[in-house]
Amino acid sequence: MLIGVPTEIKDNEFRVGATPSGVKEFVRGGHAVLVQRSAGAGSGFADQEYERAGATMVDGPAEVYGEAALIVKVKEPEEPEYELCRDGQLLFTYFHLAPDKPLTDAMIRAGSICIAYETVEKADGQLPLLRPMSEVAGRLSIQEGAKYLERPFGGRGILLGGVPGVPPATVVIVGGGTVGTHAAWMAAGMKADVWIYDKDLDRLNYLSEVMPPNVKTVYSDELSLEYAYEHADLVIGAVLVHGAKSPKLLLRDHLKIMKRGAVVVDVAIDQGGFAETSRPTTHSDPVYVVDGVVHYCVANMPGAVARTSTLALTNATIRYALEIAEKGEQACLENPELTRGLNIYRGKVTYKAIADGFGYEYVPASEVLDSRRLP
Ligand SMILES: NC(=O)c1ccc[n+]([C@@H]2O[C@H](COP(=O)([O-])OP(=O)(O)OC[C@H]3O[C@@H](n4cnc5c(N)ncnc54)[C@H](O)[C@@H]3O)[C@@H](O)[C@H]2O)c1
Repeated sequence: MLIGVPTEIKDNEFRVGATPSGVKEFVRGGHAVLVQRSAGAGSGFADQEYERAGATMVDGPAEVYGEAALIVKVKEPEEPEYELCRDGQLLFTYFHLAPDKPLTDAMIRAGSICIAYETVEKADGQLPLLRPMSEVAGRLSIQEGAKYLERPFGGRGILLGGVPGVPPATVVIVGGGTVGTHAAWMAAGMKADVWIYDKDLDRLNYLSEVMPPNVKTVYSDELSLEYAYEHADLVIGAVLVHGAKSPKLLLRDHLKIMKRGAVVVDVAIDQGGFAETSRPTTHSDPVYVVDGVVHYCVANMPGAVARTSTLALTNATIRYALEIAEKGEQACLENPELTRGLNIYRGKVTYKAIADGFGYEYVPASEVLDSRRLP
């Protein structure tokens, strides 16, 4: 199969869909790879490294999208890319369709086969392709939160770990999955007082076993969250309902009970955000203030640490990408993890939460893929 790796065009997005090592694996598997010139530059990979791995470098996105049967990228297509996506073309990337109707409509119109990294799901509910970026975003959320708590950046002027004689900051993490767990580890390492909230008791049990003593686990409900917001210096939004819009757990009224100069890092912004007052921001303009509370809502946080993220992403995506390259759309039929990854198939919405969210007809992936088998 001919695989295409375009340059990402989202604001300050420096990641790339495949490393030179990833390209080498494709080539070893008997595939050809087109890489857009300079696509890897932001992650520190030179064109020559891709060429040495066996890629053909091409000048623009039109050639990548125009020729490749499978596009492997990082972020959802941006508006200028909509018209490049072709009928029957396999697109393997993060999509985050649930909060984005224009993108969903564009992909339906394009007739492409959209396999979303974030909904590829193992039988036990794990999300193996969201996981590496959630690990990065979770760790980074504390780094960013600590920065915006600094007075010159609009925060309360609080050092996360405090110093002897001065108490540390209170970090409230809502959602104890991958993002929440990695955020908790970083905040705990910086000696903050960490409270982590989840509704899943098994998860809270696990967290209380693996976390250091400065991390407290708390069952998430309306009253416990209200108490948390009142005391928090830094709040991390890390909830997820698979494939669906994020539940709103930090309401506008809550801002009134929060401390002035407190910081909210809404990592869940790519699914619409866990705070009512969140709207997506970019790396070039990452924060804004509502009722004295600093909001950081960058939807592609891992792009800031592109090299780490690109390496971690390719480590996770390559085996699925190889399977798709080998079997084409049939891979979605044979591998249930990829079946769950299929969001849109040639104009049909094959992911229930997305179809329901926009009032579109839901056609199960098994149905569209099965019907392809009929004579
Ligand atoms: N902004 C970015 O750059 C970026 C990067 C990576 C991930 N994310 C996003 O971060 C979010 C979290 O991802 P994840 O991988 O940690 O997901 P996850 O599935 O591992 O964890 C989500 C957790 O939220 C919990 N949860 C669900 N509803 C809840 C509720 N009402 N109260 C408390 N907890 C609740 C679940 O029990 C689960 O433990 C997702 O929206 C993901 O897309 C954003």
